[in-house]
Amino acid sequence: MTHQVRAVVARAKGAPVTVETITVPDPGPGEALVKVEACGVCHTDLHYREGGIGDEFPYLLGHEAAGTVEAVGEGVTDVAPGDFVILNWRAVCGQCRACKRGRPWYCFDTHNARQKMTLEDGTELSPALGIGAFAEKTLVAAGQCTKVAPDASAAAVGLLGCGVMAGIGAAINTGGVGRGDSVAVIGCGGVGDAAVAGSRLAGAARIIAVDIDDRKLATAQRLGATHTVNSRETDPVEAIRELTGGFGADVVIEAVGRPETYRQAFYARDLAGTVVLVGVPTPEMRLELPLLDVFGRGGSLKSSWYGDCLPSRDFPMLVDLYQQGRLDLDAFVTETIALDQVEHAFDRMHHGDVLRSVVIL
Ligand code: APR
Ligand code: ZN
Ligand code: ZN
Repeated sequence: MTHQVRAVVARAKGAPVTVETITVPDPGPGEALVKVEACGVCHTDLHYREGGIGDEFPYLLGHEAAGTVEAVGEGVTDVAPGDFVILNWRAVCGQCRACKRGRPWYCFDTHNARQKMTLEDGTELSPALGIGAFAEKTLVAAGQCTKVAPDASAAAVGLLGCGVMAGIGAAINTGGVGRGDSVAVIGCGGVGDAAVAGSRLAGAARIIAVDIDDRKLATAQRLGATHTVNSRETDPVEAIRELTGGFGADVVIEAVGRPETYRQAFYARDLAGTVVLVGVPTPEMRLELPLLDVFGRGGSLKSSWYGDCLPSRDFPMLVDLYQQGRLDLDAFVTETIALDQVEHAFDRMHHGDVLRSVVIL
């Protein structure tokens, strides 16, 4: 059997997205058919549409999603029809060196659904990040589904599937933020704000939010920033030093992905501090630093991919914290929209006045 559902498709590089009827097959071995309930609009979706990620058009966009499993294929035991799940980028093997060392996002043998979803004329779709959840139903590998508490808001917890997990994980998993630490977060969009929220969860004493936009700083404050610095007006390195007794922050999280902000992070950390790069640079970017400054400072320079998360551990835990009122995921949901408003959400993203637009299905 197949399912005909409405979905958001990017047909060609740079062209506005369209809402189309697509065909989703019943799940085969190891696959799950998911009835999507909510899916956030992420920069990565826009990058796909602009051809910045690949040239495998048409893309089925959407990848920050939660929904209910409708059917599972042969051999699937971890999830069952009726389960409320958050989707992740790919199923990992669990057996390779990376998986065994708890770094599944570096897995050597990942997979997505093996069957293809198609346009009405039979053209195969490429699902964004192996998910494709701006669709009433999508087909994924069962290992991309993590069961969480069924009564949580899909719009809020779906965001854990990408940007919010990246930010929280950059602070907690990669940065190792702990009780009493001072943390600085450079760039307070969805990812940086999530790093702020994660730092608060971890018990950081000082959380310094840095951005060039006062509106972003206000949201960061709502999520737990104790201090804010507008780096258009104030040198952020000096400001962070001043706010940390002259030492620099124990953990600095770079959530922009640019050489100049990385340099700020590098110099704003305590001599034994940690820098976490979670912002995604472009291929042509270069970083120039005096090697002597690298030598003269201890600490660690790290990068965080998908927040170094383990979905089976982190998604249910963060949903629990959300339901207890200790993690304000609702603060990330600026607006809820319909499937045909994704293009409009891309426009708003450029203006910087939303953290996340979330499509409700
Ligand atoms: N200094 C400080 N903040 C800056 C600077 C700068 N020079 N330039 C931009 N910013 C701020 C923006 O004002 C915005 O608040 O960085 C933030 C970036 O946020 P978003 O554009 O909303 O992006 P977000 O979804 O948070 O992702 C941030 O992480 O996953 C990656 O690809 C993603 O590289 C991107 C980064
Ligand atoms: Zn994303
Ligand atoms: Zn593996």
